[in-house]
Amino acid sequence: MRIKNWIVGTALTISMLPVGLNAQTRKIFTVKANELKAKIEPTMWGVFFEDINMGADGGIYAELVKNRSFEFYKPLMGWTVAQPNEGDLLVLNRKAENSVNPRYLQVTANNPAKGKLSMTNEGFRGMGIRNGLDFNFSVMYRQAAPGMKLHAELLNSKGEVIGSTELAPSKTGSEWNKQNISFKSTGADQKGSFRIWFDGKGKIDLDMISLFPGNTWKNRPGGLRVDMVQLLADMKPGFIRFPGGCIVEGHDLTTRYQWKKTIGPIEERQLIVNRWNTEFAHRPAPDYYQTFGLGFFEYFQLCDDIGAQPLPILNTGMACQFNTAEVVPLDELGPYVQDALDLIEFANGDVSSKWGKIRSDMGHAKPFNLKMMGVGNENWGPQYIERLTIFEKAIKVKYPDFKLIFSSGTDPDGARFDLLNTELRKMKADFIDEHYYRRPEWFLANAKRYDNYERNGSKVFAGEYAAQSDKTVSIDNKNNWQTAIAEAAFLTGLERNADVVQMASYAPLFAHVDGWQWTPDMIWVDNTRSYGTPNYYVQKLFSLNKGTNVVPVLVNNQTVTGQDGYYASACIDKKTNSYIIKIVNTSEKSQDATISLEGIKKLQSKGMVTTLTGSNLEQVNSLDNPKDVSPVEKNIIVKNQKVNLTLAPHTFYVVKVTSL
Ligand code: AHR
Repeated sequence: MRIKNWIVGTALTISMLPVGLNAQTRKIFTVKANELKAKIEPTMWGVFFEDINMGADGGIYAELVKNRSFEFYKPLMGWTVAQPNEGDLLVLNRKAENSVNPRYLQVTANNPAKGKLSMTNEGFRGMGIRNGLDFNFSVMYRQAAPGMKLHAELLNSKGEVIGSTELAPSKTGSEWNKQNISFKSTGADQKGSFRIWFDGKGKIDLDMISLFPGNTWKNRPGGLRVDMVQLLADMKPGFIRFPGGCIVEGHDLTTRYQWKKTIGPIEERQLIVNRWNTEFAHRPAPDYYQTFGLGFFEYFQLCDDIGAQPLPILNTGMACQFNTAEVVPLDELGPYVQDALDLIEFANGDVSSKWGKIRSDMGHAKPFNLKMMGVGNENWGPQYIERLTIFEKAIKVKYPDFKLIFSSGTDPDGARFDLLNTELRKMKADFIDEHYYRRPEWFLANAKRYDNYERNGSKVFAGEYAAQSDKTVSIDNKNNWQTAIAEAAFLTGLERNADVVQMASYAPLFAHVDGWQWTPDMIWVDNTRSYGTPNYYVQKLFSLNKGTNVVPVLVNNQTVTGQDGYYASACIDKKTNSYIIKIVNTSEKSQDATISLEGIKKLQSKGMVTTLTGSNLEQVNSLDNPKDVSPVEKNIIVKNQKVNLTLAPHTFYVVKVTSL
């Protein structure tokens, strides 16, 4: 609301000025509508996913119980237990029988008084509980004889019960069984918890104590948080890059991401520490683990659900070079390469193939149509080249058309970048992954970055970008309008060079307001709510207005790359016969402007302008005011293939007109 008033206010002020006082001459943006340039790939605007900032566990993966399998370094982390006698609740280990999920809890009861023998889980910075929602409680157990009952209770932050049920394990014997029950909440809380108390007499072993809200994405049991997926789906991303980021590399090679350990039955996915757990002394997260409830199958499924191409990134035999920089000897690289080959079979293989069958058994007989893969994230140096060369050879021999993406290191310039950029281009790499975490000024200055890039060689994947209002890894970085408008300006440069840059994604994607390690981030959440930042809306507007081919847009016969603070790009969408013109005014001045489409006979008389701006450059969105900076759509008149506009200061415009 505030934004709309500001725009209207600005427009009025300008139009009420006596003629002559609006001293600036009208700026003419000429669109060469019949000069079709680069094809814009359907993958152009995508999403980068990493389990950082509680993005997966505690975030999009909707499990509410933290440390459900007692495998954190402190087995009862996240749990508070109450027991009448020492040892009524015991953590035991069955390593020989089950090396991936060895610990479990043994409960011994002798008719304790109501509520006296209990365990309470605090969730991930509390549990978000909505009123009247179904919750699914499930547990794995084994018992010699029935005799105990589990009373499950949702608690609000005052400790009052806001939903309860009972579960009486029925099976006996030495095998583990799974039982579940659904119940409804009767109250709401952002910071709830979950208690189980026991009554009866006997002994029972418990593991995988789990609680999910019933309203997961597509109502899948054990699924994803619906509001967070919806924000992604709304962007219609061309691809999802997963699972990161540095998480691919691991602190050392034992904590690298290994996709094969993230598929199959949930209780057989061995959790590991999340490398962001200890990364920043100023943002410690000792309880941050990767349970892999969101594993590679689920990532592929998510891509399938929202029409995005999957883009997995695999470890190249090198741990994070900021941490241990551990490398696997070249003669031991075989299993890493095999993981890559097997992943292609897992995604695309026929159900008669080994990995295709595993995918099919997990519920997806149809291939996922994987076309590309990244090998290495932010790796650098000659040891990286040596390793990726081995990957490339093995993959291309078997899958010649499969596209491979290689990293150009941590920065978009400097010695590491120069070495890799030169070597990878010599190798004719399909894609080079460039990362930019820079100040807004860098983004403005680099809107021209690709105008003179080598056009016929390797393509660029702008795999991680985010303007930093302070500096990289500073906790003071804000997702403010200044960063977002600088990104909008930069993205016009990517779009104009869509023959060179064929994919782009902001990073990181998600952050929990109580559990983040890295800022800025595209989407922020608490336990029940989520919102898109101004940066989200910038990327979303590019993605929803992608077009099929670039067309030139010129001012004074020149591309618009920062002159007077203006940036612009334009494209045609051949599917709808529309022209989409993006103009970013980063200046402090209002400007009367005309968009003139040349080389086209007739346009519909009504078009649409979408405006994105903030009331000032510091403006941010928040959980309470999620849409302060969000797109506002308005119809505009199109006459003689022209559109007149007053371009307000610090504003991003997307203008869409359609042929008759
Ligand atoms: O996006 C956060 C981190 O930034 C990524 O994990 C890494 O690739 C980059 O350094």
